[in-house]
Parts: sequence; structure tokens; C-alpha cells
Amino acid sequence: MNRWMLAALTMCALTASAGDNFEPQAAVRVQLLGAQLKAALQGSMAAGGPVAAIDTCQLQAPAIAAGLTESGWSVGRTSERLRNPANKPSPELMALLREYAANSELPARATLLEDGSKLYVSPIKVGPLCLNCHGTELQPEVQRQLSLRYPEDQATGYQAGDFRGLFWVRYQPQ
Ligand code: HEC
Repeated sequence: MNRWMLAALTMCALTASAGDNFEPQAAVRVQLLGAQLKAALQGSMAAGGPVAAIDTCQLQAPAIAAGLTESGWSVGRTSERLRNPANKPSPELMALLREYAANSELPARATLLEDGSKLYVSPIKVGPLCLNCHGTELQPEVQRQLSLRYPEDQATGYQAGDFRGLFWVRYQPQ
């Protein structure tokens, strides 16, 4: 997806109100979050390799998520094995993470929470690109940078195809 398509999708999808359209709108937000992260990652990997791209993940991932957060909507990523403790799952997300970890073929889905908000989750799988920073054999400089920035990093040791975590979208009626 290129920048213009992303921009057009954003405008069409995000100007509608949540109402009963929660699930399709949440799905668009997940697509936008995933596509923007991937574009940022691929760009910086091509320009400076995985060490430089760590900056991108650290600085841009929260900024991209923040850009998709407005009027009742919030988005993010979470995992059972965290790199950044700020991505810690809520109790509801923890329960969903366990379900998907047991069966990562489960499709994305929406649930209604007790407080009246709606939560949509979509599973994230590890692809070959991800192994540069989440795999078993990291370049020494990548490992060094990760240990410096994330002393409690649990997000290495993955293999391609593994379940990594969830994209989540929450809508809290205002
Ligand atoms: C260049 C290194 C790098 C690559 C490549 C990379 N990541 Fe990450 N990943 C990070 C960093 C750094 C963070 C912490 C971001 C932050 O501080 O919010 C992170 C965080 C995450 C998180 C959030 C949960 C957590 O553990 O904090 C998920 C999910 C994730 N990555 C999945 C992926 C997937 C899937 C891929 C492949 C498409 C990928 N990553 C590729 C470095 C990388």
C-alpha cells in the first residue's frame, strides 16, 4: 500500500462514527497501523540496516499508534513476551493472548467489554524480516542496542511463522 492509498483510506474510514460499524472500522485501523509500521521499518532497514531500524521501532511505533488514536479510539500492539513494558496487556488482552497463543489460526475478532467499550484484536505472526530483531541469532550490535534500551527484553528467540502478539483497537463511546 502506498502513502496516497493510506491517506485516502484514513480519510474515508476515520471520519465515520463508530456506531454499529465497529468491526470494519477497527479492521481498517489495524491495517493502517500494520502498513505504516511496515513501511517505516522497511525504509529504515534499507537505509541503515537493523541497528538503525531499532530507532524507528522505538520512536515511530508509539507515534504511529498515537496518530491513529482519537475521539474514543485507541490502538496498539501487545504480546505475552514483551520488548517494551509500555505494551503490557490489560487483563482482557492477556486472556485473548493466551487463546491465540494456543491457536494462532483463530481469525481477528471483536468483543464487547464489561465497561461498554469494544475491543478488536488481530493476530501478528513473525515473518523473515522480523527475525533481525526478534529471532534467535541477532547481529552482535543489534543485540547490544536492544539490551541497552530494553534491559528486560523477552521478545527474542522467535522463528518465522510463530505467533508474536496482537494488534488491538479499542473504542470507548464518549
Ligand atoms: C529493527 C528491529 C526490529 C524489527 C526488524 C522488528 N521489530 Fe518488533 N520491535 C522492535 C523494537 C525496538 C520494539 C519496541 C518498540 C517500542 O519501544 O514500542 C518492537 C516491538 C514489537 C512489538 C510490540 C510488543 C513488544 O514486545 O513490545 C511487536 C508485536 C513486534 N515488535 C512485532 C514485530 C514484527 C511482527 C516484526 C516483523 C514484521 C518486527 N517486530 C520487526 C524492533 C524490531
